[in-house]
Amino acid sequence: MPVITEIADLKRIYKRRVPKMFYDYAESGSYTEQTFRANTEDFAKILLKQKVAVDMSGRSTESTMIGEKVSMPVGLAPVGLTGMQSADGEIKAARAAEKFGVPFTLSTMSICSIEDVAAHTTKPFWFQVYTLKDEDFMRRLFERARAANCSAIVITVDLQLLGQRHKDLKNGLSAPPKFTLKSMANLATKVGWGLEMLGTKRRFFGNIVGHAKGVTDPSSLSSWTAEAFDLTLDWKRIARFKEMWGGKVILKGIMDAEDAKMALSVGADAIVVSNHGGRQLDGALSSIRALPRIVDAVGDKVEIHMDSGIRSGQDVLKALALGAKATYVGRSFVYGLGAMGEAGVTKSLEVIRKELDITMALCGERDVKALGRHNLLIPKGFEGDWQDG
Ligand code: GLV
Repeated sequence: MPVITEIADLKRIYKRRVPKMFYDYAESGSYTEQTFRANTEDFAKILLKQKVAVDMSGRSTESTMIGEKVSMPVGLAPVGLTGMQSADGEIKAARAAEKFGVPFTLSTMSICSIEDVAAHTTKPFWFQVYTLKDEDFMRRLFERARAANCSAIVITVDLQLLGQRHKDLKNGLSAPPKFTLKSMANLATKVGWGLEMLGTKRRFFGNIVGHAKGVTDPSSLSSWTAEAFDLTLDWKRIARFKEMWGGKVILKGIMDAEDAKMALSVGADAIVVSNHGGRQLDGALSSIRALPRIVDAVGDKVEIHMDSGIRSGQDVLKALALGAKATYVGRSFVYGLGAMGEAGVTKSLEVIRKELDITMALCGERDVKALGRHNLLIPKGFEGDWQDG
C-alpha cells in the first residue's frame, strides 16, 4: 500500500490505473486551458498569516451547507462519467461522502442512475440538473430525484453547450468506450480497471439512456449536449425549475455579480461561484479571483459556495477566508476514486480535512466558521482592476 500524503499522490496512481480517455476527460480544460490552469495557480498567490502562542486545542471543521450539517465544508462536486473512472464510481463516491459526513452531488451525466445511488446509500444526496429542452424529461427527472429522497438540486447554469476540450475529440470519448485500434491499445494496459468494469452492468449514462428521446448517439456526451440541451435557457425557466422542484435549489456556475443578483431573485438557496473547473469559458477569471466581488455583492443575502481549483485543505481555507461558506472538490476526489475506489475517495477527503485542520491551527484558528480575511495576505489587485464595459 503506497503512502498517500497529498492529493498529487492519488493523481499519480489514478493516471496509471485508468484509461487515458477518462483521465484526459477529467484532467482537461476547454481550448487553451488558460482558465483551468489559473484556477489552481491563483490559489497559490494568496498567502496565509501565521499566528503563534494561541490556544490550538479543541478545533472543529464542522459547519453547515444549506442547513445540513457537514463534517467539513467540502462537498463532492457533480462530475460526469464518474462511473467510468471506476466501476460503479458514483455509488462508491456517494458512500464515501456519506460516511465522511459531506454532501455528494450526483451528476445528470452520471453512469449510475439516481435510483442506483439511492438504493446503495442511506442518507439523502444532492442531484445536479442539466437543463434539457424536453420539459417532460425535466419534470420526470425532478420526480425521480424526489422519489430518491434527494434533499437539494444543483442546477448547472454554465453549460447549455460544451466548451471544446480538444483531448475528448481526439480520444473519441464515449461511455462505454468504443473499441478502436487506439483505444484498445490503451485499454489493454488497464487490466484492473477493465476487470472491474466487466463485473458491473453500469456502463451507460444511467439517468439518460431509456429516459430521454431524440439523441443519435446515447454514448456520447457531446451528442447529448448538442442535441438535447436548452440553448434558450433564461432566468424565467430557472425560476420555473425552482417551482417544479419545490425544495432547496443551488445554482452552480455564477461568475458575475449581476448574475448572482439574478440568482437571488429566482430564489436560489445557495450559489456556487464556479467556472466549471475551467471546462467552459476559456479565458474567464479563476473562481477564487471571482469570489470576492460576488461575496461583496450578495454575501449577506445568500449562501455562497465555490469550486474550481481546490486540491488541498489550504485551498479550502483560502476560499472560506475569502467569504465562501463552503467549497466543492471534483478532480481531487476523482483522483482518489480512480486510484483506489471508495477507499481512495475517503483518502482524498481525509487528506483535505487534515490539511485544513492543521493549517487552521497554524493560522491561530480553532473553528472553521471563524476564518476570514484577517487570516490572509491578499496581493494588491488580486480581484483585478478591470475597465467597465
Ligand atoms: C460536464 O459537466 C463536463 O464538464 O464535462
